[in-house]
Amino acid sequence: MMATLGPLGVFDSGIGGLSIVREIRRQLPTADILYVADQAHVPYGPRPLEQVRAFSEGITRFLLDRGAPLIVVACNTASAAALVRLRGIFPAVPFVGMEPAVKPAAETSRTGVVGVLATPATFQGELFASVVERFAQGIRLVNRTAPGLVECIEAGDLDGPEPRRLLETALEPILAEGADTLVLACTHYPFVIPLIEDIVGPGVRVIDPSPAIARQTERMLVSLGVPSKSHPGTLRMATSGNPARLAKMSSSLTGETARCEALRWQDGRLGLAEPA
Ligand code: DGL
Repeated sequence: MMATLGPLGVFDSGIGGLSIVREIRRQLPTADILYVADQAHVPYGPRPLEQVRAFSEGITRFLLDRGAPLIVVACNTASAAALVRLRGIFPAVPFVGMEPAVKPAAETSRTGVVGVLATPATFQGELFASVVERFAQGIRLVNRTAPGLVECIEAGDLDGPEPRRLLETALEPILAEGADTLVLACTHYPFVIPLIEDIVGPGVRVIDPSPAIARQTERMLVSLGVPSKSHPGTLRMATSGNPARLAKMSSSLTGETARCEALRWQDGRLGLAEPA
């Protein structure tokens, strides 16, 4: 017997994956989505890869229990740390993961210098090494992290003096090397694109991968034969942090209000928190 088809599962350490959700909603307005934010553990970026793998596995199990036909790992850090492991543990489950958009950057850069902004864990993973090997031949990559920026974005500070200072510090060496293209390889960063563009100026193309990820999600749903509906899809959320806060952030970042449930980690498993 076929299991009931649940919502598309999408997850991130926090609100970053909402940049992907926003784009999926634009391109696939009839898809039902369940978004999980692991805000008890955000940021993932400075954590050991093994720990990020364990969190990603716990969240995936939760989404599969809810009937997700497809999981979008809307987090570069979790994709870098855990995608290979997840595909090994759940061989029948289709995953869409984030891969730093070095390919389109390398194809269009005129100076041959490309900046990549990501978390430390994303640069450590084998995924990044393979992206560099496949797509960055003849290109000089300037890889930078922006410690503290994810925390600013989580706190809702998208344009204040602190994120500006952190971005200026991260971007200065990229500009100094002559980059004309900047890859945003963390799903939190699209929310500070206006600030980034203000710092880098019109001579640098900023690549936000979220439209491409939404297109890939659509292709995958079509190939899986997931039927599309004629009425608007639902958007639900769940967080291991504060549900009221996530609901508020989500409505300001995506323009949509969503019901948000509280989650709790217990012995490595993620489940609904007991009602208070
Ligand atoms: N949004 C994430 C990413 O794409 C995670 C950032 C973090 O938790 O450090 O990498």
